[in-house]
Amino acid sequence: MRIIVKENYEEMSKTAASVVKSQIVLHPDCVLGCATGGTPLGLYRELVKAYQNGDLDFSEACFFNLDEYRDLDPANNQSYAHYMKENFFDHINADPDRIHIPDGMAEDVDAECRRYDADIARHGGIDLQILGIGVNGHIGFNEPNAHFCPDTHKVVLDDSTIEANARYFSSMAEVPTEAITMGIRPILQSKTLLLLANGENKAEAVRSALRGPICPELPASILQLHPNVIIVLDREAARNL
Ligand code: PGA
Repeated sequence: MRIIVKENYEEMSKTAASVVKSQIVLHPDCVLGCATGGTPLGLYRELVKAYQNGDLDFSEACFFNLDEYRDLDPANNQSYAHYMKENFFDHINADPDRIHIPDGMAEDVDAECRRYDADIARHGGIDLQILGIGVNGHIGFNEPNAHFCPDTHKVVLDDSTIEANARYFSSMAEVPTEAITMGIRPILQSKTLLLLANGENKAEAVRSALRGPICPELPASILQLHPNVIIVLDREAARNL
């Protein structure tokens, strides 16, 4: 596990972006696992900038999102489909046919989850998975639980997750309480994991994930078992290490 601590959010984002840039340059047809939330916004900005400067070509890359809210139309401006378009896909030359996001509106959720796992497997798994971490130690929306869920699954979001997500919605009642998330297996089977965290409110989750026992109550702790993890933190998120 490589832990890189940078002075601030901007430096964290630039360092994380350099990892993704190398991946795209070395393997233009790679499978990139994408995360949402506040943390990777700076990373996506850097990648868009590199594309606009003519330094990156995403046309052959394939994208799999970690998660999507249940019952939010992709056109809803709080859906993760919308987030990815607005912050990344609309500004690069991604091939729409190579963009994969769980369908939060699917009537048959179990079938949608199986389809998503089969799709990931058909593409040979994920080469580089970008990850954030929740204040409760979740990765994707794999919430603290009594066991690790290997497959893509529907999840009832933790109160702490709903609270953290509330800042994007105008009222608490609008915050989705369920989501579809990629399970732990495809995450762990990714060739490289790139986890970003910034801010003091992530410091305890980061410490538990990297230094605590490996347990499903702190889902990110499973990363300790992965042979190729790059952790990029700002100084505040690293303060308990
Ligand atoms: P954030 O969320 O980037 O908005 O803090 C991270 C996560 O919940 O994984």
